[in-house]
Amino acid sequence: MTATTISPAGVEAASLLAAIHETSFAPADRWGVQAIGLLLGLPAHFAVLAAMGDRPVGFAIGRAVADEAEVLTLAVLPDARRAGAGRALMLALSDAAARLRAEAMFLEVAESNAAARALYAGLGAAEIGRRRAYYPDGGDALVLRLPLKPHGATAGG
Ligand SMILES: CC(C)(COP(=O)(O)OP(=O)(O)OC[C@H]1O[C@@H](n2cnc3c(N)ncnc32)[C@H](O)[C@@H]1OP(=O)(O)O)[C@@H](O)C(=O)NCCC(=O)NCCS
Repeated sequence: MTATTISPAGVEAASLLAAIHETSFAPADRWGVQAIGLLLGLPAHFAVLAAMGDRPVGFAIGRAVADEAEVLTLAVLPDARRAGAGRALMLALSDAAARLRAEAMFLEVAESNAAARALYAGLGAAEIGRRRAYYPDGGDALVLRLPLKPHGATAGG
């Protein structure tokens, strides 16, 4: 299996991230290059990109303000899924948020999104709320909280 590498991504990667987003989400949920470029230019926002070999396969965008961080989006190309990229992106995003001194990361996920829910649960995220009929299809969003290890903490610390 090709190794997955993670690197930081900035505004210059906006069209690449938009192409991945477009291939990963249903039409109603897609963000365009302008929206992604705008987000990446804002203070306190950060992104990580996953590649398998030379091929970019996924990315995540987060935001950290004071001691709280939020996952704004996470996407892995359909044909690259179940190979660890989503988990690696979440770990890298958590690490980046902890470096910015966030103590917890919040996420919203559709109740019907079994893949993302399993990924987040496996990382230790706990359900803390529900937004009813949050999505255009009438589905609920679950609000999750993932505690972060303080940056620089040793194992068990
Ligand atoms: C959610 C998503 C990012 C997962 O990416 P991925 O690269 O496939 O995730 P990983 O390979 O790192 O999976 C890690 C774990 O998550 C869980 N998981 C991932 N996909 C799953 C699926 N389809 N069904 C059940 N569990 C799943 C498993 O526990 C998996 O570990 P395992 O493969 O050892 O069993 C990807 O499915 C995706 O881009 N979906 C569309 C966009 C989306 O829903 N984004 C999240 C919005 S909140």
